[in-house]
Amino acid sequence: MKTIKICMGSSCFARENRDNLAKIEEYLALYGLTDSVQIAGSLCMGKCADGPNIMVGDTLYSKVLPDQINEILDKELQPK
Ligand code: FES
Repeated sequence: MKTIKICMGSSCFARENRDNLAKIEEYLALYGLTDSVQIAGSLCMGKCADGPNIMVGDTLYSKVLPDQINEILDKELQPK
């Protein structure tokens, strides 16, 4: 199962991760992926200056904005 880790540290969360989380939940529901992809909160990843940070599997995405979520998840979660 793939895990998406969303930084819930105050710096990332106060910026866009609150909206990013909503976008990710929306995306998983839309594509019926809620059972195969796990969403987890993370403590500060120590890279606040690059935030908002999100990890999909082992890949770190930095400076993530809500309008980039679809593109990132298409790349990570949809069959090639
Ligand atoms: S709060 Fe997200 S990296 Fe620090």
